[in-house]
Amino acid sequence: MFTTVAPRSQAQLLPRDLFGAIADLKRDLNAVILAHYYQDNDIQDVADYLGDSLGLARQAATTNADVIVFAGVHFMAETAKILNPEKLVLLPDLDAGCSLADSCPPEAFAEFKAQHPDHLVVSYINCTAAIKAMSDIICTSSNAVKIINQIPADQPIIFAPDRNLGRYVMEQTGRDMVLWQGSCIVHETFSERKLVQLHVQHPEAQIVAHPECEPQVLRHAEFVGSTTALLNYVQTQAAPSYIVATEPGILHQMQKACPSTEFIPAPPMNNCNCNECPHMRLNTLEKIYLAMRDRQPEITMPESVRQQALKPIQRMLEMS
Ligand code: 13P
Ligand code: SF4
Repeated sequence: MFTTVAPRSQAQLLPRDLFGAIADLKRDLNAVILAHYYQDNDIQDVADYLGDSLGLARQAATTNADVIVFAGVHFMAETAKILNPEKLVLLPDLDAGCSLADSCPPEAFAEFKAQHPDHLVVSYINCTAAIKAMSDIICTSSNAVKIINQIPADQPIIFAPDRNLGRYVMEQTGRDMVLWQGSCIVHETFSERKLVQLHVQHPEAQIVAHPECEPQVLRHAEFVGSTTALLNYVQTQAAPSYIVATEPGILHQMQKACPSTEFIPAPPMNNCNCNECPHMRLNTLEKIYLAMRDRQPEITMPESVRQQALKPIQRMLEMS
């Protein structure tokens, strides 16, 4: 028989009361914890501010804290750093990337952009600082339609990197756009067949979906929106249950806001938990504590890239 001996490393170094230790460090560092809804429940509970990408960018733009602890993925923390070059921005796990951001490598995108020299580049915030630096305007899922509607009708547009959000925005605005063919592994995991089967079992449920989902899923949704928009929507409706087609981390806040409502995660293709974002879920409460204690891993980037990437983010904040 095997016995498991706990390693004498990490566990011994961690305080018994992580919540208390994080609160102490927050005060000592004058730090703020910004978290996305796709984080584990305990991270959401320890955050000073929870939001979608736009809300988090706005918070990062206005915070008085000296240290920003970003419980989210790399592009989100990078956006906070672009807006706050003088602040220390910590990402608890530097490997917390994004499949969508990875689907748009800067060299290939530069070539693509060169093939459309008269096009304005609107990029979804889920991209690297290098892509932002090549963009004219940044958008998020909550302001993409509003931003595209403000661009003169005769101005051709490249939309990158998410083809699903791009297609959805084209439908909503009636604009033709050249789409970069990127996508999110999490939002492309939902199965239309299983979604319909689940809806047959729960005919009283409303389907709500994030616009990063594929069209065959979106067409079944009664409401499509960013994570914050989905959370707000379910609070304004009287449905007894919802089938939620996005990363299931959002269910924690939905359940808190509507305790007697049933929230059912939309089913992935396989019997896996691949509807959980593997990047977001790399962050843990332990890593947040260690990042604050050690003041690393820190987000850094070349100043020239930061300055280039700042302009399209500022345009977004002005236009939304
Ligand atoms: P939101 O801006 O809607 O929170 O979306 C972020 C994201 O990464 C979705 O996959
Ligand atoms: Fe990126 Fe998709 Fe994860 Fe959002 S859910 S952070 S788009 S991989």
